[in-house]
Amino acid sequence: MAEFVDVTLDAGVLTVTMARPDKKNAITNAMYGAMADALARAESDPAIRVVLLQGDGDSFTAGNDLADFAAVSQGARGERHVTRFLANLAAATRPLVAAVQGNAVGVGTTMLLHCDLVYLASNARLITPFVNLALVPEAGSTYLLPQRIGYARAYAMFALGEPVDAETAFTIGLANAVVPADDLRAKARAAAEALAKRPLGSLQHTKALMRDTARITAQIARESQIFQERLMSAEAREAFAAFAERRAPDFSKVSGQASVLAASELMAAASTGLTPPP
Ligand code: COA
Repeated sequence: MAEFVDVTLDAGVLTVTMARPDKKNAITNAMYGAMADALARAESDPAIRVVLLQGDGDSFTAGNDLADFAAVSQGARGERHVTRFLANLAAATRPLVAAVQGNAVGVGTTMLLHCDLVYLASNARLITPFVNLALVPEAGSTYLLPQRIGYARAYAMFALGEPVDAETAFTIGLANAVVPADDLRAKARAAAEALAKRPLGSLQHTKALMRDTARITAQIARESQIFQERLMSAEAREAFAAFAERRAPDFSKVSGQASVLAASELMAAASTGLTPPP
């Protein structure tokens, strides 16, 4: 059992609990590693029929640990387990169930797009503030979210980073039910146990037919490349410093010029009919 992630198996349900409540279950590199391991174990252990994801305390998760992001943006090296976590999430053939209370920020929301049943407490808030942090959305969400809720709503969630409350999330198809916070775990657990009694092979085929895993995996690769570049950007460093200093970021003092240049090259090329250099 890794620090801050509890993993238990009971009645065919592998429950993976983010357990760092004093930091709103912000996910560290080690936590991603433990969660990636749990998903891998679920695929290879015949006793595991369903995976249930949940978080301790008042938040599902505040998303990626921002101190970890800041360290990477300052040049920290080493294996980043988030890559393995996202790959295992996208490739999971076992049903995934999520129980979400309070804030589900960043990957806390995008991981839900890979879950097959999602239960929200009435106080749940889904927030995808990637652009506010000068990053880009990940976990295949640039493909999965517009597909699920339409471009207009998905763009507003990503670009404005505005929270989506539980009732709205349910109405637009991001969740199966909204329940009182006190009933959340029991509701999700009952659903997971019900799935565990279904024929696993049939569930796996159904999920495979409903999800274009190759397309999702390809999108994760595209996003990851740009995400890495953004992590190293001056804009992102300003965003992480602002969070650490508990102030609003000031992006006017850092430049986003590279992407502006790329766009103008594309426009010039389009007007001449020529392909821009790679
Ligand atoms: N990474 C690291 N630490 C985090 C964190 C994160 N993503 N989110 C919260 N924390 C820490 C806070 O620094 C604080 O630590 P402290 O008690 O040592 O000061 C503690 O968790 C409690 O957070 P706080 O902001 O006081 O709680 P809140 O209830 O007022 O707000 C959130 C909760 C989730 C709305 C807010 O913490 C937040 O916006 N966090 C950042 C989320 C984010 O941008 N994640 C990245 C997505 S890509």
